[in-house]
Amino acid sequence: MKSSLSLFALIIGSFALSCYALVVIPQKQIGGLQPHFTEEEGKVVDPYPVRNRGVAERGRQVYKSEGCIYCHSQQVRDVQNGSDLERGWGERRTVARDYVFEQPPLLGSTRLGPDLANIGSAKWRNESTDPDDKRKPVKRDAAWQLLHLYEPQAIIKESNMPPYRYLFQTRKISGQRSAEALNLTGDDAPEDGYEVVPTAAAKDLVGYLMSLDRSHALPEVKSTAPAAAAK
Ligand code: HEC
Repeated sequence: MKSSLSLFALIIGSFALSCYALVVIPQKQIGGLQPHFTEEEGKVVDPYPVRNRGVAERGRQVYKSEGCIYCHSQQVRDVQNGSDLERGWGERRTVARDYVFEQPPLLGSTRLGPDLANIGSAKWRNESTDPDDKRKPVKRDAAWQLLHLYEPQAIIKESNMPPYRYLFQTRKISGQRSAEALNLTGDDAPEDGYEVVPTAAAKDLVGYLMSLDRSHALPEVKSTAPAAAAK
C-alpha cells in the first residue's frame, strides 16, 4: 500500500513539475508580451508588430487552408542553430514578439521550400542575397508572386512546389486585356483571345506574402546578418 502511494505521489509530482516547467514558466516569461513601440511627445510611434487586417488577414487564411505550412516555415533561426541568416532569410533571428498577434503563429516545421518569414521585406522584394540563387536578379513583387503561384516551374524549372492554378481563372478577353492578367509564355500561355487572371483568394494570398516582414529592430535581438547580406 505504501509503495503504491509513493508511486502515485511520484506520478502526480512529475506531472506537476512538467506542467510548471512547460506551461507556467513560459507563460510568465512571454505570456504578457506586448508590441514594441517608441513614444515621442506622448504619442506612440512605429508600433511593431501590428495586427493583420484586410487583405493580409484574408490571405493568411488562404495560406493556412492551402497547406503552405507543410513546406514553408516562418521562423529565422540564430547563427548557432543554422544558416538561415547566411541564406538571407532575414536580417535577424525571429523572436516571440514577432508573433504576438498571430493566432496560431504559422511557424512551420518542415522546409521543402525557403523560409518565408521575410518574403515581403524590401530586401526580398528587390534582390536575392542567396549566392546560389539561380533566379538572380529577381524582384519578388506581387506580379512575380502571382506567376510563381500559378506555375512555380516557369520560374525555376526544378521547383517541386505544386502549381496553384485553381487560384486563377482562365477567361475570354472581353474588350481589353485585363491589367491583372498574367504574362504567360510558351506552354503556359492561354489560347488566343483568353487570359489568366488571379481570383480574390490568389490576390489575398499574395497580399499576405507581401506583408511578411520581420526585419523591424527589437530591443531583445541584434541584427546578426553577415555583412554581405545586411542592407
Ligand atoms: C510541396 C512543398 C511546397 C508547398 C506545399 C508549397 N511550396 Fe512554396 N516552395 C516550395 C519549394 C521547393 C520552393 C523553392 C523553389 C521555387 O521557388 O519554386 C518554394 C518557393 C516558394 C516561394 C519563393 C520563395 C523564394 O525565396 O523565392 C514562395 C513565395 C512560396 N514558395 C510560397 C508558397 C505558398 C504561398 C504556398 C501555399 C499556397 C506554397 N509555397 C506551398 C515548396 C512548396
